[in-house]
Amino acid sequence: MTIDKKFVDLFHSVSTNAAIATFNWIGKKNKIAADKAAVDSMRNNLNKINMKGRIVIGEGELDKAPMLYIGERLGTQNGPELDIAVDPLEGTNFAANNLPGALSVIAVAEKSNLFNAPETYMDKIAISSPEKGIVDLDNSTKRNIGNLADFKNTEPQNLTACLLDRPRHKKQIEDLESLGVKIKLISDGDVSGALMVTKKDYNIDIFMGIGGGPEGVLAASALDTFGCFFQGKLIFESNEEKERAKKMGIKDINKKYELNEIVSGDSIFCATGITSGDLVSGINIDNNVFTSETLITHKSSNLKKIIKLKHNIK
Ligand code: FBP
Repeated sequence: MTIDKKFVDLFHSVSTNAAIATFNWIGKKNKIAADKAAVDSMRNNLNKINMKGRIVIGEGELDKAPMLYIGERLGTQNGPELDIAVDPLEGTNFAANNLPGALSVIAVAEKSNLFNAPETYMDKIAISSPEKGIVDLDNSTKRNIGNLADFKNTEPQNLTACLLDRPRHKKQIEDLESLGVKIKLISDGDVSGALMVTKKDYNIDIFMGIGGGPEGVLAASALDTFGCFFQGKLIFESNEEKERAKKMGIKDINKKYELNEIVSGDSIFCATGITSGDLVSGINIDNNVFTSETLITHKSSNLKKIIKLKHNIK
């Protein structure tokens, strides 16, 4: 089974409209209002699509998020059964403070093919080549970098690693420094960080470190179409988080997930820029015309490209 190509345009339009809806909140120092604008738009537009959609990654559980909550049914209830992961505003800080890199993101797979990740942290690692055994979450940073340098027939000093700038990464950063690896620290936005391994132009050889679990699943769905390597391991900070995960059906809380256990089968991924960043340009307005840029992937048609659209303001 595959997801019909016509859905690519439909989900592209969902992420684009959410990015446009957030445009007026850029730089207004109001993360909640910016997020709400994106959520409202996404929900409204997802409900118009002929599908039996179900949110597997969203804004949280029903008691925490009134909309786009995990388990919420969306769409007209006519059409294919689809699992949907959303991050209507990825990089709330970026949007609120008019900084580069805010995105509106959606990933879709056929029913039961997208990992239902709880809202915990995830330890992640990604490289562009799909081969197993080059890097692994269970390896030391030194071993991963050594293996990757050997695989690329180069020296660690010529590699660049991307990770979130967080105190929890102190040891990894020190290890990378001692190996002479170039480091790109990002202040937020690790969906985009992980996707930097997809193309040589971004100059990132390895993405690593701990970020949001939902963001890991979203990035994984695009990395799958790009034919990259990704592993993720959930990190639990409290017993309450562990209990919630068990209730969501996670039996082994120490499990390391391979890419095909996070996303399988066909998938569609759309990330539209809200503010311009490394991955895509943000929403631009000129003479009553909005321009948007979206990174789109569709596995079964091997689509993986950035699409620019112009929209007249009504
Ligand atoms: P928000 O858009 O929810 O603010 O997330 C931004 C982000 O940087 C994600 O990209 C990343 O996965 C997560 O936050 C990291 O969390 P933390 O800021 O707690 O380290």
